[in-house]
Amino acid sequence: MKQIDVCFTPDLLHLHTVENTIVVVADVFRATSCMVTAFAYGVNSITPVATIEECRQLQERGYLAAAERNARKVDGFELDNSPFTYMDERIQGANVAMTTTNGTLAITKSRSAVKVLVGSFLNLDAIVRYLKTDGYDVMVLCAGWKGRVNLEDTLFAGALVDRLKDSYAMAEDSAIMAWRLYAQGKDNLIGYMSNASHIRRLQRLGIQKDIAYCLQHDLYDVIPVLRGSALVNMDVK
Ligand code: MLT
Repeated sequence: MKQIDVCFTPDLLHLHTVENTIVVVADVFRATSCMVTAFAYGVNSITPVATIEECRQLQERGYLAAAERNARKVDGFELDNSPFTYMDERIQGANVAMTTTNGTLAITKSRSAVKVLVGSFLNLDAIVRYLKTDGYDVMVLCAGWKGRVNLEDTLFAGALVDRLKDSYAMAEDSAIMAWRLYAQGKDNLIGYMSNASHIRRLQRLGIQKDIAYCLQHDLYDVIPVLRGSALVNMDVK
């Protein structure tokens, strides 16, 4: 039987071997929710980069550029890290360069995996359907916050474990923990997470509507997949 594993933060990634594994990177608030929304609104590609400097270099080469640090837009870049920013005409057909505090870093750290997929609650069902057809073990890499564990990405991991539990064995306790947490919180995710660190951080910045939006399940039938250095939309139709 295939196995599903969960890595709670990129700082624990060195303890895992991903060469024979599909990695699903999750940064629910908000990087991977933005990416999924951007593909749903017709972006051509998103190149995730770890640093602001790399993002600026791609911007100079004509990319639309998105840079976020500590949940705020970095000056000099066109796009911020709100999913609503990506529901825009200029996104259609565009090549976007993106750097965020945690999400893009988690993607760039996963490059040695068989495949790197971008997951969020918004495309949970598309990811589940695809994984059921594929033969590899899966690991959810939670982007966390600056090396720390967070609640929202762990809950996404638990949701994926929950939907795959009939076809995948839980590899280790981290998968069991994520699954149990999701079972506790799933009927009222917003209430369950009301005190979560990044929710409080976003609220302090007046960013309320992104929270409810990012917790919606199964809105989009898209799967961003890393091809070379860029994410493109896997054809899941
Ligand atoms: C990140 O990559 O850390 C984020 O998506 C933070 C945010 O903008 O909410």
